[in-house]
Amino acid sequence: MKKILFVTSEAHPLIKTGGLADVSGSLPKALAEAGADVRLIMPKYQAIKTTEEIYYKSTVRVNETDANILETRLPGAQVLVWLVDCPEYFNFPGNPYVDEQGNAWENSAGRFALFCRIAVEVAMDRGYLDWTPGIVHCNDWQSGLVPALLSLEANRPATVFTIHNMAYQGIFPRSAQASLNLPKELWNPDGIEFNGMLSFIKGGLAYADRITTVSPTYAGEIQTAEFGYGLEGLLSYRNDVLTGIINGIDADQWDPLTDPQIDEHYNVSTLSKKQLNKAALQKKLSLPIDDVPIFALISRLVEQKGIDLILECLPEMLSLPLQFILLGRGDKHFEQQLTDVAKTYPDKTAFTIGYDETLAHLFEAGADIFLMPSRFEPCGLNQLYSQRYGTVPIVRKTGGLADTVVDALPETLGNNTATGFVFKDATSGALMEAIKRALIVYSQAKTWKQLQISGMQKDYSWNKSAKEYMALYEQLN
Ligand code: ADP
Ligand code: GLC
Repeated sequence: MKKILFVTSEAHPLIKTGGLADVSGSLPKALAEAGADVRLIMPKYQAIKTTEEIYYKSTVRVNETDANILETRLPGAQVLVWLVDCPEYFNFPGNPYVDEQGNAWENSAGRFALFCRIAVEVAMDRGYLDWTPGIVHCNDWQSGLVPALLSLEANRPATVFTIHNMAYQGIFPRSAQASLNLPKELWNPDGIEFNGMLSFIKGGLAYADRITTVSPTYAGEIQTAEFGYGLEGLLSYRNDVLTGIINGIDADQWDPLTDPQIDEHYNVSTLSKKQLNKAALQKKLSLPIDDVPIFALISRLVEQKGIDLILECLPEMLSLPLQFILLGRGDKHFEQQLTDVAKTYPDKTAFTIGYDETLAHLFEAGADIFLMPSRFEPCGLNQLYSQRYGTVPIVRKTGGLADTVVDALPETLGNNTATGFVFKDATSGALMEAIKRALIVYSQAKTWKQLQISGMQKDYSWNKSAKEYMALYEQLN
């Protein structure tokens, strides 16, 4: 049986800031179902929430620091999770990356260097856990030092590094290299040094046996200067070991037929019941209960997500017969501008600045159209959830959005393959045009219903992608 150590900085429902947590909470379950013995390792943050018991397993010492390994399970699943418990690093309020005030942790490099070192000890079976993985599967920069450190070990497991977002690289001043006491052999321009600074992500990109990213289109994009942020050369050089595997979704958690968080259950045969969820949502958000389409957006409010394009469109958009609901948090200037606009249009907008899992499900069930005008999007999950809930996505043609949404054109509408609206340029004009196209199709009830059904019938479960990961592991040992 393939033994896989899955290294991640967040996993739903234990702790989540974005899509990485969704993937880390669902892919390991799918791998286990596909026959792998998979175990997660992640830091024990103060904010971790679980209904499962947590047991002490062992204590490991690295770089003069002791960390306890605690064992639990992914809630509701059999998959084992090892929590790296080192209170002096992780036992503080806040999320994995920022403190309660939203400022990046000052000792971010130290936190994740310690985490990586412990993961290496566990990977080499020096963590007193009596288990040796054949594959160590790392995710994003927080685990980037693992492939680098493992490269120095004899008889090491094979390593896979998955890029969920090239925009976050874990770059720290040169001095961090010395204070973290990292092996000197790794410090060179072909290693973890990047323009004289320490780069965690390079530890993964330069040393992992295989690199993956979360969609085929993004795998190509990151080899260009626009999306590679200075690492496009290295990625092109490693092109022969780089592949794109599209994310799946947790099809149990995101299913309009069983979702315990929504008002009325529905599927393709009972699609008219979606209307009841819409009315309930309008009531909850104090919006007029009428039949204009509801546009929704759920997102981290950051540049990546094209929030500036939305802001530019808003005056024109809100002059049309529609309602716009938003759930998000992030950059303070976006939060402020959005709040200001909402005040001017109380009958057409309901903006919730915050993070709310239940509301996210209610949005998917009750809205008609989902907006995702991302400037770049490695995969994106909400366009997948939206299709499953019959909430037609409007997306920009980039990364995973380009791979998962079929534009509604005469031909694709004719052969029932269309699932949404796709626009190309990162401009408010192009977004506005897509919004208008959506409004026209929305007014043609039969065509709209078919668009919803085509999206709902797509299989975005992990089945296919988990098999692709299994095939990749197979190549390695
Ligand atoms: P990213 O990881 O770049 O943020 P994804 O689309 O991959 O983008 O995943 C985002 C995940 O986080 C989705 O599950 C989405 O529903 C969730 N999410 C984002 N913002 C919020 C929020 N404010 N409240 C609830 N869920 C949110
Ligand atoms: C990142 C990306 C997002 C992707 C997620 C999970 O946060 O921004 O596009 O869906 O990781 O892979």
